[in-house]
Amino acid sequence: MTQIKNIGVFTSGGDAPGMNAAIRAVVRTAMYYGIEVTGIRRGYDGMGKGEFVTMNRKSVSNIIQRGGTILKTARCDNFRTPEGRKNAYEQLLKHKVDALVAIGGDGTFTGAKVFGNEYDIPVVGLPGTIDNDLVGTDFTIGYDTAINTVVDAVDKIRDTAESHDRLFIVEVMGRDSGLIALRTGIATGAEAILIPESKTGLEGLFNRLEFGRKDKTSRIVIVAEGDDTVGGAFEVGRLVQEKFPNYDTRISILGHIQRGGAPSCMDRVLASRVGAAAVEALRDGHRNEMIGLINGEIAYTPFEHAIKHHQGIDPNMIKLVEMLSM
Ligand code: F6P
Repeated sequence: MTQIKNIGVFTSGGDAPGMNAAIRAVVRTAMYYGIEVTGIRRGYDGMGKGEFVTMNRKSVSNIIQRGGTILKTARCDNFRTPEGRKNAYEQLLKHKVDALVAIGGDGTFTGAKVFGNEYDIPVVGLPGTIDNDLVGTDFTIGYDTAINTVVDAVDKIRDTAESHDRLFIVEVMGRDSGLIALRTGIATGAEAILIPESKTGLEGLFNRLEFGRKDKTSRIVIVAEGDDTVGGAFEVGRLVQEKFPNYDTRISILGHIQRGGAPSCMDRVLASRVGAAAVEALRDGHRNEMIGLINGEIAYTPFEHAIKHHQGIDPNMIKLVEMLSM
């Protein structure tokens, strides 16, 4: 058992619904074990600037249902430099923080990995990103809420698409990953999905439009923003309009609404479980690991492995989109 007295907790990178539930779990679990908690505002940026707040049971009351992050977040270039990390470490020493819980995605863990190797401070991470693009957890905190937000939006788009006999190109988030597009494509009965992991999406779409059923009255194509094989929804829309001028085509970019809103029950439970496990992991001497959930069990994955991109796309899932929307 490692003697930890004061855990610093922070959120970093893009916010994700459920981050607050994770902060709450870290604070309450630490209190349970008699450990103090310091909240670090605005991620690595705030760490370097000394934006520290003492947390107690009350500071996390009534936040489990709230989207965003009460600790705020930032993307920080300064932490990529040795001076930036040195500043951050000095601030941690000054505030007597002797362990860290980092909540975020691949950028957050890349920073945590370097920092944890450079300085003698145990760091563990919680997977907080709507993208679901980490190895070592079946789902990331925020993904379930985000895909439900997308499904709700696309169902509404389907109503208007159907009324006007239109084809909609809908762009969803996922910088390097098509996992949001893939699941929501299945759940909304999309005619096609275009994702960075598959290079044949556009060709497949063109084939469907040319040789597929002609009696359809609406069509939805979901494009992951990271799909640089064609370059996002506007470019896909342009190519479709050029080749198929008879289709009445519209473009819709869902954007940051996917990151907001109250976390789903799944995200709250996931965040609560891994948040509590993070504190216990630090007490047990874990460091430089992400705490995730695999098949319902807590799983520990070294940062360098967690950020090696997601588990990959099951080709059967892509086939499912095509097969079921015939
Ligand atoms: O990493 C989460 C994410 O929502 C990505 O899907 C998206 O590309 C990115 O963040 C957008 O970041 P920002 O809000 O900084 O533009």
